[in-house]
This record gives sequence, C-alpha cells and structure tokens, in this order.
Amino acid sequence: MHPTMENVKNSHSEFKAWLISLRRSLHEIPEPGFKEEKTSKFIQGVLKELGISFRANVAKTGIIAELGKGSPCVAIRADMDALKIEEKTGLPFKSRHPGFMHACGHDGHMAMALGACSLLKQMEDKIGGKVRFIFQPAEEGLGGAKYMIEEGALQDVSYIFGGHIDRHYRVGEVVVQDGLICAFSDSFKIDIFGKDGHAARPYEAIDSIVISAHLVTAIQSLVTRELNPTYPSVISIGKIRAGSAHNIIAGHATLYGTVRTTHPEIRKKVLKRFRALVEAFVGSLNAQVYLEFIDSYPPVINDKEATEIAKEAAKSTPGIKKVVSDMPPSLGGEDFSYYLEKVPGCFVRFGALIEGQENIPAHSAKFDFNEDVLEIGANFFKNVAITALNK
Ligand code: NI
Repeated sequence: MHPTMENVKNSHSEFKAWLISLRRSLHEIPEPGFKEEKTSKFIQGVLKELGISFRANVAKTGIIAELGKGSPCVAIRADMDALKIEEKTGLPFKSRHPGFMHACGHDGHMAMALGACSLLKQMEDKIGGKVRFIFQPAEEGLGGAKYMIEEGALQDVSYIFGGHIDRHYRVGEVVVQDGLICAFSDSFKIDIFGKDGHAARPYEAIDSIVISAHLVTAIQSLVTRELNPTYPSVISIGKIRAGSAHNIIAGHATLYGTVRTTHPEIRKKVLKRFRALVEAFVGSLNAQVYLEFIDSYPPVINDKEATEIAKEAAKSTPGIKKVVSDMPPSLGGEDFSYYLEKVPGCFVRFGALIEGQENIPAHSAKFDFNEDVLEIGANFFKNVAITALNK
C-alpha cells in the first residue's frame, strides 16, 4: 500500500492501517548496516508525500528530517538496519531479501517515527520549536549513531528520545526509567592457533577445536566465580569457526562473542581477567592465542529530567495503560548511548507481546511483534517531542 497524505489525515483506524502498511513494506526489505538503500529510499518517499523536508545520505544511508522552526530543537531517533537471519515466520509480508530479516523491531521503530512525522505535520504551525527525526543506519554492532553525530545529527538538540519494541511487555505497557538501562557491550574475537594434523594421530597436532571447547566452559566460570553477582554480567560466545573435514585436526579456530556488564568497575575487572584467563588457558594447552576486542558500546544511561518528560508524555498517550519504571537493567547493547553521551535524553521500551507467543525472543528467525504498538509509539514520539519543547 502506498501512503498518501489523504489516508493519513483520515480516521484513527486508517492511521493505524497506514502504520501497519509502512511497517510491513519495510519488513519486506531488510538490509544490513550502512546498506539500507531501499529502506532509505522508502522513508524518503514517505517524507516527500508528507511534505516534510529532509537531508538524505547522512552517514551513508541515514536521513535527518525536520518539522517546525526556530529553537529549541528536540530529536527523535529510529534505527534502520536489519539482522543477518533467514526469516522463518511464514508471514505474508516476510523478508524478500534472503538471509536478512527485521528480527527485533527496527521496521516498527521506523513506522512509529514516520507516524509521529505525519501527526506533527498536521500541527506544524503549533510546534514551539523544531522536531528533528534521525533515521539512523547500522545500530546492530556498527555504531551508526556515532557517524550520525559526526554529521551533525545533534546540532542544537536539547533533548533526544528513542525507543525499542520489547516483547517482554504487553501492548500498553511502556518502560520509562532513569539511570542505566542497557549494558556496556564489548565484542571480541579469539583466534586460537594450534597445529593441523591427521585426525587419527592427534598427538602429532595441536587441536584447536578441543581447546575451544574447554575455553568456552572455562570462560563461564569467570562470570560465576569472580564477579559480584549483584551486578549483572554475561559473557556469551555466539560464533565458532574451525575445521575443514571430519578426518583433519583443525589447527586454527576463531571464536566470536560479547561481554556485557552494568558497572564500570566490574567491566574493567572482567575485561582484564578475561584476557588473562584466555591467554593463560590457551597457552597452557600449547597453542598460541590472539584476543581482540572488536567493538564496544557504552551503556545507555537515561537522564533524570528527560525521563520525567518521557513519563509525562507517556501518561497522556492514548493506548498506554501502564508506565513501568522498575525494570532490571537489560544486558542488551544499544548505540543510542552515543547520543546520550552528548545530550540528555531517554530511551524507552514499548511492550509488544503477541499473546500466545511468549517464548519467541528478539533476534530469532520467528520473531514478530504485536502491531498494535505502532500507533502507541507514533503518538508517544509526537507527545514526547511536544512535551520536551515546552520545557
Ligand atoms: Ni534492536
């Protein structure tokens, strides 16, 4: 369905249908970080139809759109990239790009932001300042936020807001709380260099697969035995690559994973101990090891005042029945943290559980969310922008 100004202006249910159509169109064209070309074109098309001016090709595929005029300026951010997952939902609007999928809701975030654009456009002369929409590429690991900031996304911005769809909560529940809500995220790569050999004569080789297997288990004892359990921490290995055939001992293995922590001191300790353990452990098994931290996100720390603004906005948003503010910190990483290092803001979570599908997590091939959240998100973004401008 092609959006037009007409069906946006019309009734409530048409607005909802329009948001759903935006989300589904975006869902069909998932693209990885900094390659969101079709996605960017699609968003630009909608902005044009809505009569909203924008700057495209910011940080490659990003877009900055603005409504209103003068100062102050409040920013709303939506992320654009998808994940490297082969979709298995069987939905009629499933991914048309093999190997890629919107599997945590960025398609929904973009639809919400466009929805807020259309709502604000209808009241543009009453906006007391400027609302800037930041459509940001590459949230999943590549830190697109950093590049958007470098290209001026935060210029003159006094507050920034963003949100993430969250299936741990029901539609109508929104998590708005100050302080640390997303963890420090440090991704790593471990290369183990043993020695190739014949599978029948392991004593002539150094088996990097056996070493990897032991290492994966040894790493876990670091979290459970050395770290204070009252500060949540996690180390996960997400990918191992080794070997070429059933009868060859693999001389080289590569392990990829991530360390998540919620306190700067704990982070310092775990990164130091992690390196010591990996090097000593692999060394003791006669292989060489090379550990590299490949990227890291700072934690998302919501500003107190911005959080109050977001709470106030949530309370006046139709469809929001409950504002949650006692969520334990998530160990997820989120590059919204880069914006929050520069300007005060608040990152919220929009409940979007599909009843009966409680056990399908984000980043899974069967991920989907309850589309009733789209209208809530669009109205919240509109409200939070207006509330912040009036502060
Ligand atoms: Ni995400």
